[in-house]
Amino acid sequence: MNARSVIRIGVCGLGTVGQGVWTHLSRIRPELESRLGVKLELTRASVRDLRKRRSVKLPASKLTTDALAVATDPNIDIVCELIGGTTLARNVTLGALACGKVVVSANKALICAHGAEIFATARRHGGHFLFEASVAGGIPIIKALREGLVANRFPLIYGILNGTCNYILTQMEEQDAPYTSVLGEAKRLGYAEADESLDVQGWDTAHKAAVLAFLAHHTWVKPEQMVVEGIDRITPDDFKHAAALGYGIKLLAVIARDFATDELSVRVHPTLLPESHVVAKVSGVFNAVSVRGDVAGTTLYIGRGAGRDATASAVISDLVDAVALLKNDRRAFITARKSSAPEPAMKPCRLAPPEHIRGRYYLRMTVSDEPGVLAQIAHVMASQRVSIASVIQSAQEPAGMASLVLTTHQSDEQAMRATLARLARLRCVREEPLLLRIGDFSD
Ligand code: NAP
Ligand code: HSE
Repeated sequence: MNARSVIRIGVCGLGTVGQGVWTHLSRIRPELESRLGVKLELTRASVRDLRKRRSVKLPASKLTTDALAVATDPNIDIVCELIGGTTLARNVTLGALACGKVVVSANKALICAHGAEIFATARRHGGHFLFEASVAGGIPIIKALREGLVANRFPLIYGILNGTCNYILTQMEEQDAPYTSVLGEAKRLGYAEADESLDVQGWDTAHKAAVLAFLAHHTWVKPEQMVVEGIDRITPDDFKHAAALGYGIKLLAVIARDFATDELSVRVHPTLLPESHVVAKVSGVFNAVSVRGDVAGTTLYIGRGAGRDATASAVISDLVDAVALLKNDRRAFITARKSSAPEPAMKPCRLAPPEHIRGRYYLRMTVSDEPGVLAQIAHVMASQRVSIASVIQSAQEPAGMASLVLTTHQSDEQAMRATLARLARLRCVREEPLLLRIGDFSD
C-alpha cells in the first residue's frame, strides 16, 4: 500500500450500527487523521437492498450488494463486519482475514459460533480481528479485561449484557407497560437483533457471556452448555412479588470460576437483585458489568449497551487500533495483538456440573386453590432436599385458582430442575412453574 499514508475502510452492513459508524467517522475524521498521522478513507460499503432509505448518503459508486467483494477488495485495508448472523458474516470475516486484513466486528453470535476458527485464521494470515462492540455496546469491557485488568484472574463476572431486555424489564417495572409494545419500541429504537428472539430468550446475552468467558478463562463455552433462560415468561405480577420481597428483576449473565476446583459456570437468567444493589438500579438500555479481579478487587462498568451511537463508539475505537496496527506502531501493535488474536496455548478449565451451581430461588406457580395443595408442593420440595424460605399466596382469576410464590434457601441447579419437573406433574399445578434465581453478590 501507499506507505500507510491513506488507510481505506470498507463497511459491510449499513444498518443501525453501520450507519452510526459511517456518520460519526465522517464527522470526526479530520481529528482522528491528525492524531493518527494518516488519511482515512471510507472507501466502499455493502448492503442487501440498494433502494432502502438510509440516514447516510453515499454515491452509488461506493455502494454494492456484494459484501465479499468489499471484504476481499485489495484496495481496502480494514473491513467492518456489521451485517450480523453467522453465514455471510463468517464468509466476509474469513475472506478478509485470509487476505491479511484487519476485521472489526460487532457480531457476538459469530464470535460465539466461530471464534476459534476466526482467531486461527487471523493468526495464520497475519490479520487481526477486533471486537470491542460485540459486548456491552459503548462500554469498553473487552479492553478493560484484556488490558486494564491484565494482572488479574477473574473469579466472578456478572451483569446486564442485553440492552433490549433491560429496556423491556425497566418499562414493565416502572410503567407497567405490556411486554409486546415495549419490545416493539426496542426494535424501533434499533436496540434489538434482527431476530429479536435472540434478545428476549437470552441467547444474545449467552453469546456475549461466551465472549467474556473466553477472554477471562480461555475456554469456549457454547450456549447449549449453559443455563440460558430469557425474559419472555416474566409478568408484571413477578415485579410486584419481587418488590414485596425487596428485589428488582434483571436479566444477568454470570461467569463464575472456582479456582480451587478449576470449575467454570456460565449462565444467563432473570435474577432477583436486592433493590439497593447498584446493578438493580441500572435501567433502560444501559448495561452493567461487575468484574471481580483477584488483584484489583471489583470494578463496575455502566453504559449504554445497545443502539446506533454507543455501538459506533466501540467500533470506531477498534478502527483506531486497527490503524495503529497497520502503521506498525510498536506499542499499539502489542496492545491490539493481545486483544485481537488470543494465543491458543492458555489452559482451558472444565465446566461445573449442575449440582455444584448453588443459589437461592424464586418459584411462581398457578395452582388450584384447594385443601392440601401447599402440603403436596412442600412434599415435592422436601423430597429434593429444597428448603422453603418464604411463601406468598394470592387469589388469582379465574375463581378457584391461586398464585403461589415460594423462595428457597440455598439449593443447587440439579435439585431445582428435579423439583420443577416433579411439580409440573402435580394435578394441582395448573401452569408450568416459573423459576427465577436470587442474586447474592456481595460486591
Ligand atoms: P441491521 O440494522 O439489521 O443491519 C444489518 C446490515 O447488514 C444492513 O445494512 C443490511 O442491508 C445488511 N445485510 C443483512 N443481510 C445481508 C445480506 N444477506 N447481504 C448483504 N447485506 C446484508 O443490524 P445492526 O443492528 O446494525 O447490527 C449489526 C451487527 O452489530 C450485528 O452483528 C449485531 O448483533 C451487532 N450489534 C448491534 C447493536 C445494536 O444496538 N443494533 C449493538 C451491538 C452489536 P440492508 O440495510 O439493505 O437491509
Ligand atoms: N440486541 C443487542 C442488545 C444489541 O439489545 O443488547 C447490543 O449487542
